[in-house]
Amino acid sequence: MKLSIGPSILNSDLSNLAQECQEIMDSGADFLHLDVMDGHFVPNLTFGHPVVKCLRTKIPDAMFEAHMMVSHPEKWVQPMADAGVNRYTFHLEATNDIEALVRKIQEAGMKVGIGIKPNTPVDDVIQYVDLCDLVLIMTVEPGFGGQKFMQNMMPKIKFLRSQFPNVDIEVDGGVSHINIGCCAQAGANVIVAGTAVTGAKNKPEAIKGLRDEWNKAI
Ligand code: DX5
Ligand code: ZN
Repeated sequence: MKLSIGPSILNSDLSNLAQECQEIMDSGADFLHLDVMDGHFVPNLTFGHPVVKCLRTKIPDAMFEAHMMVSHPEKWVQPMADAGVNRYTFHLEATNDIEALVRKIQEAGMKVGIGIKPNTPVDDVIQYVDLCDLVLIMTVEPGFGGQKFMQNMMPKIKFLRSQFPNVDIEVDGGVSHINIGCCAQAGANVIVAGTAVTGAKNKPEAIKGLRDEWNKAI
């Protein structure tokens, strides 16, 4: 299992996004987690492909993951690919034709992530794991940063890791150096941390702290 840490920029200073993102990458992050919310699939509204496109011109080398908390994920595949997204992570609950959407994302040249909300059983995503590059297990109800980590999501990760030893398993929501150890023990290797990084005075130290705790736990 290879560890990958991608801070969420949702709670950073969005009026100064490019500089914040560059600072996060210079602080040792492996990728940037971009939370795209449409105010329909989740009760919040953030940004779309025009912002991502501008960000890409300022940050040409970083890996971008778009976490698509939107009701029609198929609608934004090409605009996000054109904007420079590398991994398109959509929610299983938001679409009926998973296979077609996965194909569309791959044809647009992006990696595929499939996410499930806390109330969605892990059994619902099992049949699609072999089609995608990553499975996202939400550890908060999607929509806002700074929420409390849901420890009771760990059994989903344990089960997934037992069935799929090599797939990338991502956790997102309330993750910090306090609880990243239990994520690692359950089998998660792709870690999104928002407030724990963007709210930290010393971002390099915060990211190193996450990495050290993960390595200690596996
Ligand atoms: C919530 C988002 C998360 C969130 C993470 O819906 O998908 O990426 O911004 O932020 P923290 O780590 O503060 O919960
Ligand atoms: Zn997210």
